[in-house]
Amino acid sequence: MKSAYILGIESSCDDTSAAVLKDRSLLSNVIASQKIHKAYGGVVPELASRAHEQNIVPVVDQALKQAGISKKDLSAIAFTLGPGLMGSLLVGTSFAKGLALALNLPLIQVNHLQGHVLAHFIQVEGKEKPDPNFPFICLLVSGGNSQLVLVHSVREMEIIGQTIDDAAGEAFDKCGKMLGLDYPAGPQIDRLATSGNPAAFRFSKPQIPGLDYSFSGLKTSFLYRLRDEMAVNKTFIRDHRADLCASLQATIVDILMDKLIKASKDLNIKEIALSGGVSANSGLRRAVEEIALLKGWTIHLPPLSFTTDNAAMIAVGGYYKFLDRDFCGMDAAPYSRVGI
Ligand code: KG4
Repeated sequence: MKSAYILGIESSCDDTSAAVLKDRSLLSNVIASQKIHKAYGGVVPELASRAHEQNIVPVVDQALKQAGISKKDLSAIAFTLGPGLMGSLLVGTSFAKGLALALNLPLIQVNHLQGHVLAHFIQVEGKEKPDPNFPFICLLVSGGNSQLVLVHSVREMEIIGQTIDDAAGEAFDKCGKMLGLDYPAGPQIDRLATSGNPAAFRFSKPQIPGLDYSFSGLKTSFLYRLRDEMAVNKTFIRDHRADLCASLQATIVDILMDKLIKASKDLNIKEIALSGGVSANSGLRRAVEEIALLKGWTIHLPPLSFTTDNAAMIAVGGYYKFLDRDFCGMDAAPYSRVGI
């Protein structure tokens, strides 16, 4: 069969990204991260949409150039239809539709969360690694989502647990903000934690039955601890920043691991994958590696470039739908809410 060249477009939150795959092989993956949100301590939806508008043409152009192909070589255009911020999604969706119409190419809609899971099926030259075997459990942790996904195939996925309030990334970012760190605080907490003591402070852990998560109680417990300590020592945060980061990270990792271990035991599945922005966290990766040795898990940790939002994961989702000729029409409308 002739190779397929898939252009992927991702614009669900604050990263404008375009990627080109030749079948499952990565040719380019360009990401323009929006720095403007730093000043506001979180993503401002209206500013995100405006930045996508500015970025999308140069990002797509760059992705085609880096791939060494022209837009006439493309076989299909895949884009994120949801979930995400409505204004952001509209930019990518409208652009994908316009380009598909102009080039007379099939249009493929990809679910952002499925994209995160499918990132494990992207092939990178010189970094070949085995695909996960089905069924596997994927812990999908990002700024907007914390879910346990049972992956039956590249086309069939089931959410078996999810957060009932905040996402793990949100817990990192909001607690980091309390510590005076810039948005997104996750990577900075990860760095600071390396020189801190993870057992220095204890924060509350949720008691949620089943496989669901909750992080809002931890956020409150962190806030109250800082408030009480600061009342007696004004420099408490500055004096204990690394220990606070290490203890916070250890608590989030424990919460994530408890349910992942439970899911693996309940379903008797030892094939485990991580995905999403928080899967870049070194503490989480270490914990998964340690438990894998103890429990005999086969683990799949994504390359760091595929952890945060990227269009390569959307393109690979598009590739599988291209094989099925599962195309969408010009009436495809973005959706903001979670679903897989
Ligand atoms: O997947 P992603 O790029 O966007 C969403 O779809 O949300 O994830 C972004 C999230 C942010 O909350 C960020 O703080 C977190 O991933 N993150 C990390 C790390 N790198 C990114 N959290 C903890 N440790 C990291 N190393």
